[in-house]
Amino acid sequence: MIVSRSRILVDAQSKGYAVPAFNIHNLETLKAVLETARDLRSPVMIAATPGTVRYMGKEFLIKMMEAARKSYDIPVCFHLDHHENLDDIKNLIHMGVPSVMIDASHYSFDENIRIVREIVEYAAPFGVTVEAELGRLSGMEDDLVVDERDQIYTNPKQANEFVTRTGIDSLAVAIGTAHGLYKGEPKLDIDRLSKIQQEVDIPLVLHGASGLPDELVRKTIERGICKVNVATELKMAFVKGLRSYLKANPEANDPRYYFTDAVAGMKKVVADKIKLCGSFNRG
Ligand code: 13P
Repeated sequence: MIVSRSRILVDAQSKGYAVPAFNIHNLETLKAVLETARDLRSPVMIAATPGTVRYMGKEFLIKMMEAARKSYDIPVCFHLDHHENLDDIKNLIHMGVPSVMIDASHYSFDENIRIVREIVEYAAPFGVTVEAELGRLSGMEDDLVVDERDQIYTNPKQANEFVTRTGIDSLAVAIGTAHGLYKGEPKLDIDRLSKIQQEVDIPLVLHGASGLPDELVRKTIERGICKVNVATELKMAFVKGLRSYLKANPEANDPRYYFTDAVAGMKKVVADKIKLCGSFNRG
């Protein structure tokens, strides 16, 4: 079943767990997430970056999500991750996407608010929920590359003003996480997150969860994180499984079989993250 993101996240917020948002790239990765979430009875968000939408094709992706709604009896929400192009977002909202992230975090505070507000107003009549980011994460996500020197932490007081002026449904925070793998030991500004939680009453979103120690993720969930984004660890598990399968079966040429270990490896990561988020048996 497809449910609105706000319903999924508000339930998580009221009960103190987080919903994992997994980035998918094709049918195999989508099914790996959905089958694992179904087995663990977890609500789940399926995230697609602009690159994934381009790669899979809007129509295919949306039809696949419609099929997911019919085939999997758990709360599933399809979400646009790090979209920046306003026309693309509006077009996808028209096509039925229920949840979007407008990422204008690289603009000034006021410009970020103006752009996000435009999408919030556009999305409202469709019942589409909107996530936006204040501050800037470093690292690489799809076409989005931010140098460590350009990372900006979320200011808690500004976060309050940002949420009030934009009317967003959830806020992505920058507290030291990064997209992709961490170079050294990740250090999060947990006190800053507590302050943001005091200032903001909507669900908070943690980007860049790959490679974070479980203990740190738990601490963020205790302080208001209701959505945990995972991409890189899934890709790594998938390609590791694929490599080992092809190494063991050099003659393999049937994709229905040579993805077997890739999917199994990815499913294990999905299951671990669902358990870490505390979202199992909530769907
Ligand atoms: P990772 O690739 O670090 O898991 O980050 C995913 C993410 O934040 C997607 O928006």
